[in-house]
Amino acid sequence: MAKLYIEGGNRLRGKVNISGFKNAALAILPATILTGSECTIENLPVIQDVMVYRDILTKLGAEVTLSDKGVMKADTTKIDKCYIPNGLTRKLRASYYLLGAGLGRFKDVTISYPGGCDIGLRPIDQHIKGLEALGGIFEVTDDLIRVYAEKLVGNKIYLDVVSVGATINIMMAAVFAEGKTVIENAAKEPHVVDTANFLNAMGANIRGAGTDVIRITGVEELHGGSYSVIPDQVEAGTYMIAAAVTKGDLIINNIIPKHLEPVTAKLKEMGLNIEEYGDSLRVHYEKELVPVNIKTLPYPGFPTDLQQPMTVLLSTVLGESIVIESIFENRFRYIEELNKMGAQIKVDNRRASIKGVEKLKAAEVKATDLRAGAALVVACLAAEGVSVVNDIYHIDRGYEFIENKFMNLGAKIRRVEDEEHKATL
Ligand code: UD1
Repeated sequence: MAKLYIEGGNRLRGKVNISGFKNAALAILPATILTGSECTIENLPVIQDVMVYRDILTKLGAEVTLSDKGVMKADTTKIDKCYIPNGLTRKLRASYYLLGAGLGRFKDVTISYPGGCDIGLRPIDQHIKGLEALGGIFEVTDDLIRVYAEKLVGNKIYLDVVSVGATINIMMAAVFAEGKTVIENAAKEPHVVDTANFLNAMGANIRGAGTDVIRITGVEELHGGSYSVIPDQVEAGTYMIAAAVTKGDLIINNIIPKHLEPVTAKLKEMGLNIEEYGDSLRVHYEKELVPVNIKTLPYPGFPTDLQQPMTVLLSTVLGESIVIESIFENRFRYIEELNKMGAQIKVDNRRASIKGVEKLKAAEVKATDLRAGAALVVACLAAEGVSVVNDIYHIDRGYEFIENKFMNLGAKIRRVEDEEHKATL
């Protein structure tokens, strides 16, 4: 199994181009099913999860091509039912979007359970509540989820928790529901807005995405077209934090600075120098950083997906910091790995108390999930000596060309397929 060997201690310098946003891509690809036409989706990250969606669409009967530049042409005209009972949907969390998209277009969909990172219970009760309110009838067994409807009729839905997945799923089904649907306490994340923008560009009538009330007026049909996915603010944030932890100087290109505000604000509070431009920013370490406290929250709060790399950074900042994870109950499992590298972090339920250390030291660690894996890579870039990160298949699900991008910034990092082929650094 592939692993990364990383010799830490090098200051990152240079320019990095940020890829398309994984979480937006994984909503827009299933949304192409609703169009029943040919769509061209650009600026997709070339990552495992996107390839799984290519395979899902192909399995459903779509004609799909994906170029190595991240352009997918998906003609969903010939799909006549949404039935995926095999394990494909277990390979990623975002397969739950097939419920909203399939119900919207075919009024009947069956999938096996969504998979994804093991970071907590991750219930889908709000998805079910929303789709039921539109007329969906659920049949759930140990293996499969089926939802079908005679017809879909718009309704008012109040989400009990702010859920990105439920908001997007309901929005997708409501595109073809008769009359008006109102989603209250909706998620405001940039990928909710990006998915709404895609659907509107294809003929839907969705207003208010990006606020906590989204109004959808049902339409008869959508058409095809081209759409370009927004940049990945989680990837961008990871590189900003990597610049800070290695005391580096990076220009981060192809971003929307507004989407990074919660991260930029915290890094500035710590003393990092950040200059924003139109679609890029410069992160420049100039002076010793100070500890801060962080609580993850729905957008525009501090994102849970950057909690892990931020905790790595705080573990190298002298003084005491507190990180509270309020979104997912099981997102501190990587701390055990990080403490092997000399970090001094105590976890009590959803609260991590961090005592900053002068330096992290090299160790052999394993990625426990996608974002945790990226955080450990960041830790290894800062640590003295050669570290090994195992189980990097988690990282490949969400980060495009991670070792190449870091190498271009001066990091010493190699992917090794197995022990026998260990590369020299
Ligand atoms: C999405 C993102 C993930 C990100 C998360 C929060 C994708 C593919 N994944 O995950 O990267 O970390 O948003 O920004 O876009 N909840 C319920 N019932 C539900 C749905 C959610 O209780 O029906 C809870 C969850 O357990 C969690 C919170 O709501 O505590 C937020 O979850 P949600 O926003 O739905 O996250 P995901 O869509 O799974």
